[in-house]
Amino acid sequence: MKGTSILLAAMAMPVIHAAKPKNYVFFLPDGYGPASETFARDYANFVDEATVKLPVDSFAIGQVRTKSSDSLVTDSAAAATAYACGIKTYNGAIGVDGNHLPCGTVLEAAKLNGYLTGLVVTSRITHASPAGFATHVYDRDMEAEIAEQLVGYSHPFGRVVDLMMGGGKCFFLPQSDENSCREDDVDLWSTAQKRYDWTMTSSREAFDNLHKGESGDLPFAFIPANSHMAYEADRDPQREPSLTEMAITALNLLDRKAKEHETGFFLFLEASRIDHAGHGHDPIAHLFDIIEYNRAMLAVKHWIDDHDDTALLSAADHECGGLTLGVPDYAWYPSVLARAEHTSEYYAAIYKDIVHFNSTEAQRESLIIDRVFGDYGIDNVTPKEIAGLVTANSAAIFLGDLLSARAGINWSTLGHSAVDTTLFGYGLNTEKLVGNFENIEVGHFIAAELGLKLKDVTEQLQANQNFVKLIQPNVKAKKLLKRFQLEHEHDIMQAHTRKH
Ligand SMILES: *[C@@H]1O[C@H](CO)[C@@H](O)[C@H](O)[C@H]1NC(C)=O
Ligand SMILES: *[C@@H]1O[C@H](CO)[C@@H](O)[C@H](O)[C@H]1NC(C)=O
Ligand SMILES: [Zn+2]
Repeated sequence: MKGTSILLAAMAMPVIHAAKPKNYVFFLPDGYGPASETFARDYANFVDEATVKLPVDSFAIGQVRTKSSDSLVTDSAAAATAYACGIKTYNGAIGVDGNHLPCGTVLEAAKLNGYLTGLVVTSRITHASPAGFATHVYDRDMEAEIAEQLVGYSHPFGRVVDLMMGGGKCFFLPQSDENSCREDDVDLWSTAQKRYDWTMTSSREAFDNLHKGESGDLPFAFIPANSHMAYEADRDPQREPSLTEMAITALNLLDRKAKEHETGFFLFLEASRIDHAGHGHDPIAHLFDIIEYNRAMLAVKHWIDDHDDTALLSAADHECGGLTLGVPDYAWYPSVLARAEHTSEYYAAIYKDIVHFNSTEAQRESLIIDRVFGDYGIDNVTPKEIAGLVTANSAAIFLGDLLSARAGINWSTLGHSAVDTTLFGYGLNTEKLVGNFENIEVGHFIAAELGLKLKDVTEQLQANQNFVKLIQPNVKAKKLLKRFQLEHEHDIMQAHTRKH
């Protein structure tokens, strides 16, 4: 019986050849450089000597060259656009080329070809990496416009995403809401539900009611945090599921719905905040978000073992922080990282509370030594170090740098660096991608595997001159939005007609 239904599904979808995967997962560990992998492996080995490899070590197939069109050091926006559209563009560009013209993404092409699509991340869902797969703006900071396109409101194809999980609720709320980060009255949260059929929820209970994807309908958006979701080390499981839980739920939900529609799916997963921890020089945040990325990769691998029509590629967009293991020389000490239960951001918040609430200097100092430095894992604090915390621009970065120094590691930049990242693959045909590639080649590979023509999608996007005008720099997007909206209803109709 099972064999028959698979055969029928294959016959119903002539674009899919037997030797191609039906479903594709691209998993982006943002800011995960080669040193990050060694760092987490060494720590895992310190905790348990029997652990000599990380899960992802087994899936390494190659390397990715990451430079953007205007810098040898890319940002996440240009890198996401490279993976999604298969083009090199400038830092800051979301789904647009060097002339600010929109480029068709793998996700959009999948949607137009009848696939289901998902974006599951731990940053704001409006952040550069997920945005680069489903939206088009000339500057990554236009997160309000990105949110509009994500729900379908101002996207030329209407709604192209079927499943969203991640943070960033504030960009879906009108400015009258105290949690809003919009500067207008657009209420995307209710517009998405009323006009585009989304189920919009921020409750953990609603997520649990998906029963790991065995229940629930699409389109579905789970947005439990106003801004980014928590670092894994600080996560409150009552409020937010782990990335692994979200990944498996998304896979099951998309797979169940795809089978109902006799189609496949494209899922973008992101361990978004490995990068933020690198910018923040926080070894604890970095470590536990990396370990969670590895757990999620292993879970996806096991899922693929039961669904051999699915393939997985994973590669970071760039390195972050210039992490060096072994400073000043020939040693680093994972044991130093074993005490902290939370990130430097968390202990910096405790520091601020102590300064705010405790009156005498002696009382403050002893609490800071105990509850901030001590709990974070920093012993034998000198008066100079205490003074350094008090005058630091960022208490969190100061603490992170200090713990790093104690552990014999160092961060050479607050930004990204140019080194190649590691390419991981698992499942059908991924062995074909062994080697060292430009990031754009990874995008082209996925498109070819799913039988998608990105060029056609680019042409369709660029044919819509109102949309092209809307996303040009210095155009007041909000003023054009209303006019565009009318045109856009027409385009949705066209997109639907094309599909059949
Ligand atoms: C000092 O601050 C800590 C941390 O916020 C708090 O738990 C404690 O109650 C405060 N003590 C006094 C005397 O205010
Ligand atoms: C660590 O890196 C910083 C630059 O971020 C540098 O100023 C410092 O000297 C380095 N520390 C050591 C011990 O090399
Ligand atoms: Zn970054």
